[in-house]
Amino acid sequence: MLKRFMLRAVVVAFVVTVGVFALAQQTTAHPRAKAGTKAEEQAQTDAKAQSDAKSKADAKVKQIYTIDCAMCHGDNGNGKTDLATSMKLTLADWTDPKALADKTDQQLTDAIRKGSDKMPPEDKSRATDDEVKGLIAYIRGFSKGQPAAPAPAPAPAAAPSTPPSN
Ligand code: HEC
Repeated sequence: MLKRFMLRAVVVAFVVTVGVFALAQQTTAHPRAKAGTKAEEQAQTDAKAQSDAKSKADAKVKQIYTIDCAMCHGDNGNGKTDLATSMKLTLADWTDPKALADKTDQQLTDAIRKGSDKMPPEDKSRATDDEVKGLIAYIRGFSKGQPAAPAPAPAPAAAPSTPPSN
């Protein structure tokens, strides 16, 4: 008799356990589905944060240029500034696509970091390496929308080594 009762108790306990387990699964399934949309939301937020960070960095670069460079090189990079005139500086006109075309990013980085007799070097405390890269992209951008420089002659290596057969 007691044995039977125990057996029934075990069966009941089993059924209850399965029931609770099923219920638990149901309730956890819901938040998990929600977590999916949460991850999507997070991805969207990350993308927005990234583009925000990019425009923030762009704004910082523009600010550095305005404060540290524009007095000589001009807001639009053409180098026609009062200070350039009074200091008798010969500045390249960066709105001309030819002005910086033959200069590598490394040469421009050196020019900015080391300066020259009339140009003050831009210290790391005023512009980080990334910001100097940004400055270079920014000053190269002054010639955008200007008539393009005549296409350079094709490099010898690019020319066909043998004339066409016909
Ligand atoms: C006091 C005036 C002055 C300021 C301020 C100044 N520059 Fe210059 N910059 C010059 C002069 C002058 C030259 C030409 C140097 C030479 O011929 O050796 C020059 C040359 C350069 C060059 C080499 C390419 C070229 O057109 O000759 C770069 C790049 C440049 N400057 C970037 C900058 C940046 C970026 C800033 C701000 C962080 C800046 N300059 C601030 C005067 C200035």
